[in-house]
Amino acid sequence: MKIAVYSGSFDPVTKGHKDIIIRASKMCDRLIVVVLNNSSKNYIFNLQERKELVEKSFSDYENVEVVSYEGLLIDYMKTISCNYIIRGLRAVNDYEYELSMAYANYDISNSKIETIFIPASREFLYLSSSVVREIAKYNGELDRYLDNFVIESLKSKLKGK
Ligand code: PNS
Repeated sequence: MKIAVYSGSFDPVTKGHKDIIIRASKMCDRLIVVVLNNSSKNYIFNLQERKELVEKSFSDYENVEVVSYEGLLIDYMKTISCNYIIRGLRAVNDYEYELSMAYANYDISNSKIETIFIPASREFLYLSSSVVREIAKYNGELDRYLDNFVIESLKSKLKGK
């Protein structure tokens, strides 16, 4: 593939996201990580902050770019002539949600945009940003899930700094 996007909320970016991004970056010449809003979610970090945390995680990867976008993913994709969305697929409860999003994007793009799923690595099968936020709220151990700088940002955010 020449160009693909990896989309998500990234509130915050986890080692599970990083695993998928690194694997996806080997499948295409250019991987664009698109940080978006899901209208049914409330976020701890705003769009710009989420983008900056992803950017910091991938500053060393030449073919990975990070952007943020407010709107429909397919509208952003039109601007870069990209037809492939990569998403990670975790345990079975992800399936309905991921499929409904993949079909919606396919339908509203007039059957142009395909979603490609990469299975999450075993160690990250049940990892999600919401689990991480819950652990952080109660001062739990986050090393296995997040990079140190993300842990620090999350702690500061939760302290209201
Ligand atoms: O990490 P998430 O929250 O599962 O990612 C979902 C996200 C942000 C990729 C999705 O909600 C999204 O694409 N939002 C932008 C609006 C859009 O294009 N929705 C797709 C049609 S359902």
